[in-house]
Amino acid sequence: MFLLLIFLVAVLPVNTEGEKIIDGVEAKPHSRPYMAYLQIITDNGLLDSCGGFLITRQFVMTAAHCKGREITVTLGAHDVSKRESTQQKIKVENQIVHPKYNFQSKLHDIMLLKLENKAELTPAVDVIPLPGPSDFMKPRKMCWAAGWGRTGVNKPLSDTLREVKLRTMYKETCKYYPNYNYSLQLCVGSPSTLKSVYKGDSGGPLVCAGVAHGIVSYGGLHAKPPAVFTRISSYVYWIKTVLKGK
Ligand SMILES: *[C@@H]1O[C@H](CO)[C@@H](O)[C@H](O)[C@H]1NC(C)=O
Repeated sequence: MFLLLIFLVAVLPVNTEGEKIIDGVEAKPHSRPYMAYLQIITDNGLLDSCGGFLITRQFVMTAAHCKGREITVTLGAHDVSKRESTQQKIKVENQIVHPKYNFQSKLHDIMLLKLENKAELTPAVDVIPLPGPSDFMKPRKMCWAAGWGRTGVNKPLSDTLREVKLRTMYKETCKYYPNYNYSLQLCVGSPSTLKSVYKGDSGGPLVCAGVAHGIVSYGGLHAKPPAVFTRISSYVYWIKTVLKGK
């Protein structure tokens, strides 16, 4: 398994200085209390990391391709290199991958992590609401993505949580991804007008008006936007089944 990172490059449209790439910004500490940092031991015994988000006290949502031999979730973190008093580290008891997840097509890239213990809700740890089955996110909406991913192609992972504002796109913008499916996925990030750089861990949320609508799934070659996110509203019934314990 490998970590898929999204890297959205923005290019100033025909400008004097040439291309200017701006990093996303550091999030205000604990302003996104649903964010989860996933430390993964892969099936090959390597260390990896992903993002995720708390949806109930016992479940974290992430991408299916983040599955590993063992996962530990850190909630309430801002700087994951530090031991912050707000942090809650909880082992994952069960990794529930969507039954139709396909490694090749990357469709149905959604997984639920059942925590060994319920998270304690605090000002730094909280759940985020999910959309209803008919809350189909439309194009041209402004949303936010957040993660501890790289801040540049050759940069290391970020210790602190970073965030970036991204626009949802029409399906045509993602049509060069051969397996892109508009009813199951969101196309996110303008290839031409976005003026920021973002590289965030897979599995993190796309948050639109306080609701988690997407999960970071994959991006283009050389990290060029747009990127593809799993469309959460298409999976509401499966999620409910898993949360009820089947
Ligand atoms: C997208 O996925 C849905 C649900 O699985 C399916 O019904 C539809 O045919 C797919 N669309 C395309 C263009 O493949």
